[in-house]
Amino acid sequence: DFTPKREDKFSFGLWTVGWLGRDPFGEATRSPLDPVEAVKRLSDLGAWGVTFHDDDLIPFGSSAAERESIVNRFRGALDETGMTVPMVTTNLFAHPVFKDGALTANDRDVRRFALRKVLRNVELAAELGAKTFVAWGGREGAESGAAKDVRAALDRYREGIDAVAAFVKERGYDLKLALEPKPNEPRGDILLPTVGHALSFINELEHSDIVGVNPEVGHEQMAGLNFAHGIAQALWAGKLFHIDLNGQSSIKYDQDLRFGAGDVRNAFFLVDLLETAGYQGPRHFDFKPPRTEDYEGVWASAAGCMRNYLILKERAAAFRADPRVQEALRASRVDELTTPTLGAGESVADLLGDTDFDVETAAARGMHFERLDQLAMDHLLGVA
Ligand code: GCO
Ligand code: MN
Ligand code: MN
Ligand code: MN
Repeated sequence: DFTPKREDKFSFGLWTVGWLGRDPFGEATRSPLDPVEAVKRLSDLGAWGVTFHDDDLIPFGSSAAERESIVNRFRGALDETGMTVPMVTTNLFAHPVFKDGALTANDRDVRRFALRKVLRNVELAAELGAKTFVAWGGREGAESGAAKDVRAALDRYREGIDAVAAFVKERGYDLKLALEPKPNEPRGDILLPTVGHALSFINELEHSDIVGVNPEVGHEQMAGLNFAHGIAQALWAGKLFHIDLNGQSSIKYDQDLRFGAGDVRNAFFLVDLLETAGYQGPRHFDFKPPRTEDYEGVWASAAGCMRNYLILKERAAAFRADPRVQEALRASRVDELTTPTLGAGESVADLLGDTDFDVETAAARGMHFERLDQLAMDHLLGVA
């Protein structure tokens, strides 16, 4: 039974089911979706949380009074359904004022405006009980070489993120920041293009303790990278604060397909990783129901994200539980990698003196990975 339950912690962005289908070549194919309706429909489908950019809920330029009435009405829908707001993010890319970036715009007045927009939204996030605040710098980048001093831009990026983190601490909010990497689109080249770049940037922050990453499946795949490996490194660094699940077929424009579409093998190993590594955060979907769909198709697409996650979770668990798999893992000596290379108390001098190694025998050993991988395929395809 692949029926989603609250404890599965599935969440959706308002901008996902609410995407109207506008793309660089065509107009919207769907009419606007009321956020309250989105909350109710997602709740009916079995989701647990809903996330949003400030502007998804409160139109850019709304007055304080308008903002309050919109938030109150939205809160009513949350109370009625029991849905949570686990994450909030800021739109720093849609308005033309952000055409050269927000926190790293060349124009200082734009940077100051962007930072104010983020800080106000942090207050809203805390007010709604969100635990994660995502920062996706879609416009932080360039199309041409001389236009952006990348080292200065990284100084300003660090200044901006540290200012937000310091504000969170000063207010005593129970909130962590999560940076979302993406290699390109909408900018020709975006700063912090991959999980690895973001992790290294975080190490340079003053408040790195409350800053982690929000990797998106398709974004790493747009860079030709193995998403499960990126997630493993984020987990290893203790920095997987949030995740954007979706689908992507190879290196091309950001497809934002429903989770499970696109590279299904990578999705299988991702779910296997999340479920075995003890990831406790939301299973958040950041996808775009294709513009071919009417609202019936939108809800089918949203339901498909959760269904595919649960199917893959069941398949991955069956894979791990299969005695043939356990035997194949041993034959491939996967567990041996957890043994430190040097013995307890052994020095490199001892290591240099170790002559007990037969290079020819070791070179001749097969790894048996193909049998192991075929077992994974059999489980994934449901024929094991
Ligand atoms: C994308 C990005 C965005 C961000 C979102 C959060 O697909 O290009 O994922 O959807 O996740 O804007 O800020
Ligand atoms: Mn995303
Ligand atoms: Mn995307
Ligand atoms: Mn997206």
